[in-house]
Amino acid sequence: MPVLEKGLVLRHIQVSRDMYELEFIAPGIAQDCKPGQFVHIRSALENNPLLRRPLSLYDVDKKLGSITLLYKVVGKGTNLLSRIRPKEYVDAMGPLGRGFSLLAPRKTALLIGGGVGIAPLVYLARVLQCQGCNVKVIHGVENRLELVALPRLRDIGVEFLPATMDGSAGFKGLVTDLVLKKVSPNEIDFIYCCGPEPMMAKVSDFARDNNIAAEISLEEYMACGVGACLGCARKMKSSDDEYKKICKDGPVFNIDEVEF
Ligand SMILES: Cc1cc2nc3c(=O)[nH]c(=O)nc-3n(C[C@H](O)[C@H](O)[C@H](O)COP(=O)(O)OP(=O)(O)OC[C@H]3O[C@@H](n4cnc5c(N)ncnc54)[C@H](O)[C@@H]3O)c2cc1C
Ligand code: FES
Repeated sequence: MPVLEKGLVLRHIQVSRDMYELEFIAPGIAQDCKPGQFVHIRSALENNPLLRRPLSLYDVDKKLGSITLLYKVVGKGTNLLSRIRPKEYVDAMGPLGRGFSLLAPRKTALLIGGGVGIAPLVYLARVLQCQGCNVKVIHGVENRLELVALPRLRDIGVEFLPATMDGSAGFKGLVTDLVLKKVSPNEIDFIYCCGPEPMMAKVSDFARDNNIAAEISLEEYMACGVGACLGCARKMKSSDDEYKKICKDGPVFNIDEVEF
């Protein structure tokens, strides 16, 4: 059941040119959070802009009751959010949406993130690692300064393979080329992916071609965030008669449900 909370901001830091990490206290939301779900955040307490912005759970500390978000400043809402300081409050609603399925212990999960699409995969990596899965994370970015999740992933203790377009760290080139060249499909039990749609389309093809089960997290413009307004409705396949609500039926979908 989603909860509305005014969350006290503990930490708010700039982690790259246009990306921020925001940690706030919201025990009512945190206690029910699952990887892949999101919170709907109102950027400014004075209701300007009025609509909330959906942001994935980047990390959750259930003992402390805190939620950490990783977001990129792209427009008015995220710009206003970036000005909130520690000891101020964010207006949060959550947890919302359908999250990732969790793999059984001792199985191997490959998590593939493109850009800020790494956000929902970090909390997933933490939970999978905790329950005894073997976790490999691939993150594709423009340059090494955008590998913002690296310290957290190191702390969690998962295997990490970066891909940078300029070659400043790890594999040089597209994250999907790294997957094709360096991943042995027979070692992977499940793929989780979040990033730009062309990237997720290629990852879905890779998963299907190699018979690996996979889930992706989709993004769509959202208004209510709880399935009431149809603002995020999308036909998943051209042959479908019905529309799915990304906020409620997703944002996580099995690759068999989606046609790019
Ligand atoms: C379930 C979900 C989880 C998300 N998690 C994260 C996250 O963890 N970190 C993060 O940085 N972003 C995330 N996003 C995207 C984030 O919600 C948008 O970037 C944000 O709403 C933009 O608000 P704005 O007012 O700053 O920009 P706006 O002024 O609304 O838009 C600025 C630009 O961003 C584009 N844009 C805005 N919203 C979206 C969207 N939903 N999908 C694609 N393009 C969009 C617009 O086309 C425009 O070019 C998520 C989106 C969804 C649906
Ligand atoms: S945002 Fe309103 S139904 Fe999804």
